[in-house]
Amino acid sequence: MSNAPRLAVLGSGKGSNFVAIQEAILAGKLDARIVLVVSDLPDAIILAKAAGFGLPTATLPPSPFRTKLSPEGEVALVDLLRRHEVEWVILAGYMRVVKEPLLNAFPNRIVNIHPSLLPAFKGLRAWEQALAAGVAEAGCTVHFVNRDVDAGEIIDQRRVPVLAGDSPETLHARIQVAEHELYPAALAKVLKG
Ligand code: GRF
Repeated sequence: MSNAPRLAVLGSGKGSNFVAIQEAILAGKLDARIVLVVSDLPDAIILAKAAGFGLPTATLPPSPFRTKLSPEGEVALVDLLRRHEVEWVILAGYMRVVKEPLLNAFPNRIVNIHPSLLPAFKGLRAWEQALAAGVAEAGCTVHFVNRDVDAGEIIDQRRVPVLAGDSPETLHARIQVAEHELYPAALAKVLKG
């Protein structure tokens, strides 16, 4: 059996960062093993992509809240992760705020990627915030997750230029290219401890 760290990836969207991480693992650039891919949305593309790699997937039951799981829902998620002997929780476009049950179960073992140079532009659609602010540089940040949204300890960042004529879509696409390089590299660093 492999001793590689056991990751769960949690996502709500198209899963391009999940794919970058899995491809880095398959290419031998990241010593880790994705043992479960979880989504809060049953039709999220990330689940189909995970199945395409032959990885186990799970969908969380519907939550009464839009931005977080119910306390019971998050306890059930922790149970699910424990049953899969997950050691690290990797958020990749997961659109729910992480609360105490998960934070306490995986202290300093939950990592997220955010599409801005934190601490600038926390929250939703950070690339639009960057464009509206007129900054010359944008980027992405991999950070530990704590109870304050997008405010945990920074692990690493990549910068990209904001170009004249950028739309939200062109800037986000440039940031995502940087994300796909940054996330596996940052995980390689952090999983080694
Ligand atoms: C990324 O831009 C990430 O920074 C943010 O959500 C997006 C997820 O994209 N947290 P994908 O689902 O990995 O393609």
